[in-house]
Amino acid sequence: MESSKFPDSFAWGASTAAYQIEGGWDADGKGPNIWDTFTHQGGDRVYKNQTGDVACGSYTLWEEDLKCIKQLGLTHYRFSLSWSRLLPDGTTGFINQKGVDYYNKLIDGLLEMNVIPMVTLCHFDHPQAIEDQGGWLSEKTVEIFEQYARFCYATFGDRVKLWITINEPYFASKLSYEVGNFPPGKKEVGVGAYQAGHNMIKAHAKAWHVYNNCFKDKQKGRVSIALDSDWAEPLDADSLADQEATMRYMIFRLHWFANPIFIDGDYPAIMKSVISQKSKEEGLKTSRLPEFTAEEKAMIKGTADFFCLNYYTTRKVKPLDSTSSQPLGNSDVGAEGVTDPDWPLAGPEWLLVVPWGLRKLLAHVKDSFGDPEIFITENGFAQTDPPLLHDVQRWGYFQETLAEILKAITVDGVKLKGYFVWSLIDNFEWTLGYNVRFGLFHVDFEQPNLPRTPYFSAVEYAKVVKGN
Ligand code: NOJ
Repeated sequence: MESSKFPDSFAWGASTAAYQIEGGWDADGKGPNIWDTFTHQGGDRVYKNQTGDVACGSYTLWEEDLKCIKQLGLTHYRFSLSWSRLLPDGTTGFINQKGVDYYNKLIDGLLEMNVIPMVTLCHFDHPQAIEDQGGWLSEKTVEIFEQYARFCYATFGDRVKLWITINEPYFASKLSYEVGNFPPGKKEVGVGAYQAGHNMIKAHAKAWHVYNNCFKDKQKGRVSIALDSDWAEPLDADSLADQEATMRYMIFRLHWFANPIFIDGDYPAIMKSVISQKSKEEGLKTSRLPEFTAEEKAMIKGTADFFCLNYYTTRKVKPLDSTSSQPLGNSDVGAEGVTDPDWPLAGPEWLLVVPWGLRKLLAHVKDSFGDPEIFITENGFAQTDPPLLHDVQRWGYFQETLAEILKAITVDGVKLKGYFVWSLIDNFEWTLGYNVRFGLFHVDFEQPNLPRTPYFSAVEYAKVVKGN
């Protein structure tokens, strides 16, 4: 690694999301979002009933975040807009100017430091008012999201050139509408996630078209969606059943969303046939997986200007049998992932460290989706409380990962354009609260001024960024 360099224009970034860092949950006219409602209801669904009411205080302490970015020497910063801070009821009927001012300050502050903003429109936290009308289960949200996207391009697009419509539609649909551990806590098993995902794909595609038709010529930016995926390998490489299960695992995770957007406007054939067959066996007249019309397929196909990939971990996969624990949500995938005892754990129990999995996943994206330009928009390792500031082991994981992605570029020919660490600062890790720390900077949540202190990983990452 010492002798190799990343390409000159490589984007070095870190990522955050509004609800996880901003706090100021009802400041200056912000409307409530689904996480405000959910966390305020308590009920032990979040670690110690913690909330994002204050979080890292970035709504007021954003200049502290800029200092962290500067210390790292980043070229890019990915953050998300709080939809209900800008549009309290989710619609453009009322615009909260204070919310606009906040993001203007942040964007201008980044540009003054020569840092390129990459902006996500919705990172798990849509307005409660939208949820009250059905949220992502409702077709109406497609159009409302399109208007929201149009508003954001018109307001910030003179300065923002990299847009992500929706973060991780897989988890946003599964956890919110099928597993029910994310707000609004719906448990419509076998139906909810497909319906929500269906509307997210359409909303994304519409938002891409609005940009393409009305803003691209003038603003010259690009629009994509952030897709998350594990890498998966057969538990027994020689077992045909395990190989097929692995293929299904990847299809029901990554290809569910990537196939329509990057390939042909439609769901993968296997997904369609498996779900339709199972629906029939369940006595249903139509498949639980909704269908796109021909017009919708044409509208969805090709609606991403680059590929945004969030990667954390890998699984060994085998077919789901009666003794297996259920996979996330329904059992349509017919596959389950297991872990290798040799893989170290970094923070939460799901995060096994497998740096080579990312290299393989990158090659898979290259081969499956037309060799797109790729940004790794999230990757990271956590510590559970109490964290070590001198996180030598964690930096070791980053180093191994960077070595793997460098090979992806130089050996595998992947058009990898950037790498964003999750996350810039420790923050509210959804249902795991503040107990799981992904930051490059430690945040002392006990102190009223929420001081940020660099971990050893931050110091070392800054060196990599500097030396490319
Ligand atoms: C993905 C999500 O986008 C982000 O919000 C979350 O904190 C990280 N994964 C870590 O779990």
